Amino acid sequence: MSQELGLPDRAQLYRFKLDRILGRGGTGTVYRAIDTDNGQVVAIKLFHSTFFRNRLHIRDIARSVKKFRKFQHANVTHVFEFINEDEGQCLVEEYVDGPDLKWYLENRPWNLQERLVIMAQICNGLQYIHEKGFTHHDLKPSNVLFTRKGVVKLTDYSLAGGHLLALLDPGVYEQVTPMYIAPELVRREKATPKSDVYSLGVTAYLMFTGRVPFPVDNLQYLYHCHLHVRPEHPAVVNPNCPHDLGDVIMRMLNKDPADRFEDCDQLRIVLAGIGRSRI
Ligand SMILES: Nc1ncnc2c1ncn2[C@@H]1O[C@H](COP(=O)(O)OP(=O)(O)OP(=O)(O)O)[C@@H](O)[C@H]1O
Ligand SMILES: [Mg+2]
Repeated sequence: MSQELGLPDRAQLYRFKLDRILGRGGTGTVYRAIDTDNGQVVAIKLFHSTFFRNRLHIRDIARSVKKFRKFQHANVTHVFEFINEDEGQCLVEEYVDGPDLKWYLENRPWNLQERLVIMAQICNGLQYIHEKGFTHHDLKPSNVLFTRKGVVKLTDYSLAGGHLLALLDPGVYEQVTPMYIAPELVRREKATPKSDVYSLGVTAYLMFTGRVPFPVDNLQYLYHCHLHVRPEHPAVVNPNCPHDLGDVIMRMLNKDPADRFEDCDQLRIVLAGIGRSRI
């Protein structure tokens, strides 16, 4: 794994024997662990105590996880269970044995075809999540995992809670990673699959240019950019990025969701055309 941060701070969490820390993010700490009931290797995320905004949020996730458990797709991590007991809230899911896209982009050399294949797999995973009626809500490189064989697995999907919660508690948008957030979420509107297309656009911009569209530190200015600033064309930032691919990324980043792609299937098909024209 890319971010083996060493030995866990505790040996056991519920019935799981903790093996090592895989990473620490804004939402929690992720451990590689063994399920002592059946010997299965799993990834378990222990959420920060501040992650859940209220009891409704916890209830929402517990309900969603019941549905996630039935998800079956090669490009989506398999979720096993959500635990809400004394030691804290945990999400138990399939352990993915390769690096994440963040590591990949920082460590692997530029390869257009390879990156287009990764994009196609992300599109497949997202389309599946959308067809199940969910929005990922936090699509970004560290939530795109790889198996050792290079199969993409999307993780951390739909942890923000349902629409009802968002209506009651507009703070939901503050939980989306600011660098990847869609303009409509900055405006505190409802997240839709097209918000994921925008976040994937930011991810793609990084994959094919080496930087995010708005590399700024100031949070308010970053939100202003998402709302009002047109990013530089990717082919200008990186001359190795084909112009038509840059056009696709720009379309994903349109401010108005209606001007983005219809869905991730359509996006995948357009990307396949770009890949083919260069073989
Ligand atoms: N199912 C998994 N299998 C293997 N490694 C995982 C799994 N889920 C997460 N990880 C690893 O743990 C790291 C930390 O994940 P985590 O979700 O806590 O942080 P993040 O994605 O960087 O930020 P955020 O908390 O905003 O999602 C990831 O970058 C990934 O390398
Ligand atoms: Mg994550």
